[in-house]
Amino acid sequence: MDHFAYRDRTLLCEDVPVPELAEKYGTPLYVYSEAALLARLTEVQTAFKAADPIIAYSVKSNGNLSICRLMAQHGSGFDVTSGGELHRALTAGGSGKKIVYAGVGKSDAEMRDGLAKGVFLFNVESEAELHALGAVAQSLGVKAPVALRVNPDLPPKTHAKTDTSVKGVKFGLDIETVVDVARSVVGHPGLAIVGVHMHLGSPILSAEPYRQGAAKAVQLVKAFREMGHDIRFLNMGGGFGISYRKQEALPAAAFAEVILPAVKETGCQLVLEPGRFIVGNSGILVSRVVFTKETGGKRYVIQDAAMNDLIRPTLYDSFHRVWPVTPAADVPTWPEDCEAAIPNTQPVDVVGPVCESGDFLAKGRHLPALSRGDLLATFSAGAYGMAMASNYNSRLRAAEVLVTGRTHRLIRRRETFADLTACEDDCLR
Ligand code: LLP
Repeated sequence: MDHFAYRDRTLLCEDVPVPELAEKYGTPLYVYSEAALLARLTEVQTAFKAADPIIAYSVKSNGNLSICRLMAQHGSGFDVTSGGELHRALTAGGSGKKIVYAGVGKSDAEMRDGLAKGVFLFNVESEAELHALGAVAQSLGVKAPVALRVNPDLPPKTHAKTDTSVKGVKFGLDIETVVDVARSVVGHPGLAIVGVHMHLGSPILSAEPYRQGAAKAVQLVKAFREMGHDIRFLNMGGGFGISYRKQEALPAAAFAEVILPAVKETGCQLVLEPGRFIVGNSGILVSRVVFTKETGGKRYVIQDAAMNDLIRPTLYDSFHRVWPVTPAADVPTWPEDCEAAIPNTQPVDVVGPVCESGDFLAKGRHLPALSRGDLLATFSAGAYGMAMASNYNSRLRAAEVLVTGRTHRLIRRRETFADLTACEDDCLR
């Protein structure tokens, strides 16, 4: 995985041995590689260079301020989906000129805030939202710059919980009616329809949905222009997949190959909203084995990370590679096929301390024998890991560390018991 590699049977993040980080910062611990983050951002920037793109890093995938700041420092904009994410993007040095505002349920206050902060594009998902945004903008004496988000009715087949472009999901305007909606707001004093937005789902491991989606987007750009809208932006969203198991993901160039010709045909500026592609394989979750046990004919490894730290396996049955940080000499350090039964391993469920049977990081996974105190790495955990973490079971959320070469910095401290109750008022005391 990007910038995580084994040397002398020890996992390193860039040049730092992971056991050193676990010792210093404790576990569970999210560890990110700056080099990996920048390499992935650069890969997208380079692949799409011909379209002079605005790469709007999707804050929802990992909103840590230092990670957002790194993105801003290296030319990225932001895709935000709430007032909180807008706050993060701006705090991290982002500028409204490169911020797109998404979301099916923006409040009037969020719209006002977005307009005040100079957000360059609101992705609008319904007629009701369009009119509300128009009214808010008018009350401020401005025109809201809008990209109509269209549901292209394409099945990129991700997961029932992350498909966003198949008929019947809550996202976007129906492709059959979006042209009428656009026509209904020609000349609206509070709205400037300047773009078309399409996000196909996440994660996507084939370029084909983008080819088909982009073709539909081109038709919409033409139709909107014919009715007088000055369409300048084509926003193809995020969704580029990463390798969770082997090398199943495509490089950014493969998506560029199908998207760029469509952008060229329209003459629009391209906007992309990648999250997972940039941060997913740039982070791991490090945990420590608490106990092992056998029950009901099954072996369990109970370690100190849980569904509250990384909910993807529980929520989507997602697969994350899990492997010891310091594997013994009788197993490979990086099994090519991490699902196979390799010698000197046995099938185990890797679970956490949370009181739910659905609390697991891996099921039926072949791992070498483990004992109390051993460190485990859960890979590809940079995206939708910490971002979806909670305090369930009153567990303290993990710390996060950013590694740069030989140096490491704490970019989020571990929570304390005081943090847990900080927002509560013990008023019956
Ligand atoms: N743009 C829009 C409008 C989105 O809805 C999303 C993700 C993105 C961009 C960024 O997608 P990415 O490039 O990161 O794939 N929690 C789920 C993923 C939910 C994605 C939601 N929308 C997971 O852990 O797989």
